[in-house]
Amino acid sequence: MSCFLGIDLGTSGLKSVLIDEKGKVLASATVEYPLYQPQNGWAEQDADDWIEAAKTSIHTVLSDAGLSADAVTCVGLTGQMHGLVLLDDRDRPIRRAILWCDGRSSAECDEMTVRAGGRDKLIEYCANPAIAGFTASKALWVRNNELENWQKAKKMLLPKDYLRLRMTGEYASDASDASGMQLYDVTHRRWSDELLKAFEIDRGMLPDVYESPEVCGRVTASAADEFGLQAGTPVVAGAGDNAASAVGMGAVREGEAFVSIGSSGVVYAHSSLPALDPLGRAHTFCSAVPGEWHMMGVTQGAGLSLKWFKDTLCGGLVEKAKAAGKSVYAMLDELAAASPIGSNRLIFLPYLMGERTPHLDPLARGAFVGLSASHTLGDMARAVMEGVAFSLADCLGVLGEAGVKPKSLVAVGGGGTSALWREIVCNAMNTEVELSPTAAEGAAYGAALLAAVGGGAFSSVNDACSALTVRTPACSPNGERAARYSEVYGIYRALYPTMQKSMHSLAKI
Ligand code: XUL
Repeated sequence: MSCFLGIDLGTSGLKSVLIDEKGKVLASATVEYPLYQPQNGWAEQDADDWIEAAKTSIHTVLSDAGLSADAVTCVGLTGQMHGLVLLDDRDRPIRRAILWCDGRSSAECDEMTVRAGGRDKLIEYCANPAIAGFTASKALWVRNNELENWQKAKKMLLPKDYLRLRMTGEYASDASDASGMQLYDVTHRRWSDELLKAFEIDRGMLPDVYESPEVCGRVTASAADEFGLQAGTPVVAGAGDNAASAVGMGAVREGEAFVSIGSSGVVYAHSSLPALDPLGRAHTFCSAVPGEWHMMGVTQGAGLSLKWFKDTLCGGLVEKAKAAGKSVYAMLDELAAASPIGSNRLIFLPYLMGERTPHLDPLARGAFVGLSASHTLGDMARAVMEGVAFSLADCLGVLGEAGVKPKSLVAVGGGGTSALWREIVCNAMNTEVELSPTAAEGAAYGAALLAAVGGGAFSSVNDACSALTVRTPACSPNGERAARYSEVYGIYRALYPTMQKSMHSLAKI
């Protein structure tokens, strides 16, 4: 039997998915690991935790599917984008990885803009303005603040590409993930010599870049023992998690789009040309379809906001859920569903980790606005869901201004499995929301499809998607409800501009 393994190195955990040639999921397993926040707005992970999680989850899917390693024809990798993994001359991580949701590098963003010759030049070179979430500013932060670590650094890799190195011994990446390093010329699909020179970063630190379905390494003999795979198994370049999710649900043609509520929130639209937001509020990156692109708006704290709310404020409910053998998120849904649109006059700003689209402000912070002694946990949970939906509506609006106007969006990510949250997003955005059965396995499924293309089961990404992915309608906007959301959204939009100064003052104390 021939099967394909997709691995998604996510922010909350690493997921492996094994599929057969017909796209059927044979087994799926996730192993979680910690996220460290040593300071307000910082986010780090231990790269060795990812490796241990990969070993366990690969072993689990193979044993759950009752298959041996030789059944795996090809492996595809995907993962959280932008994270900085610095390696020494023996390929050992020098420090914890600095993640996509870490906002410590705003001074380095200013430095990059100056070094590139201004914001417009920077956008010309890499299609995006300087963003603290992206990799280059994190590298400059290490150089400016931890010179000793920087001097030891010989290689700079993205999270999934560190896993690739451990599996295949190759320094390689793919065009979609490389796009988020802010060192890659997204329009011409090559490292930007101009930016490497301006930022004084040596090309030798960076991996070679391939298109997503290309095979760019094989499992080595020592990795075969470590990961429980067969030596020689090919590994495709794969994709950043958003580009891989797009493949997993078939958003691979002009105008096809999805909305993701994972740790981050994303509104993603495929595009055959590199469409740009002149203000740089949404990202333009290569897609996993060779020679094509996508545009996406990103909100930093989507599922992350509800998880924070649950972990920090819902201790009692967590205990109750445990005792009843229920999911605490399902219980939060029930409470939130009992609160009306507008959460009884309560608004949540989901800027817990700063914000990208539309504010590009790493110093922005979250807020509950309008709290009263009458508010319940249900009102607060609903306000969190609505606040995330409004930030996603902001993303859709920015895409629209760049002429990218999807008619419908497939819902993905953990939050997308909540019927309530989907309904809120649908009406807050006033846009059709669809479901795709393959979306449940998320980016890992897309990585498995890329492996199926690289492994020869399909001739192209589009062929694989046409054969294996479908969408079904899930939710249509309701005029009356959409109008009520629109009223609350207006109030939401006015809040950040009035609170920005206080947020920045707080960051200084
Ligand atoms: C995209 C981004 C996030 C991460 C999270 O630019 O930063 O979606 O990829 O996994």
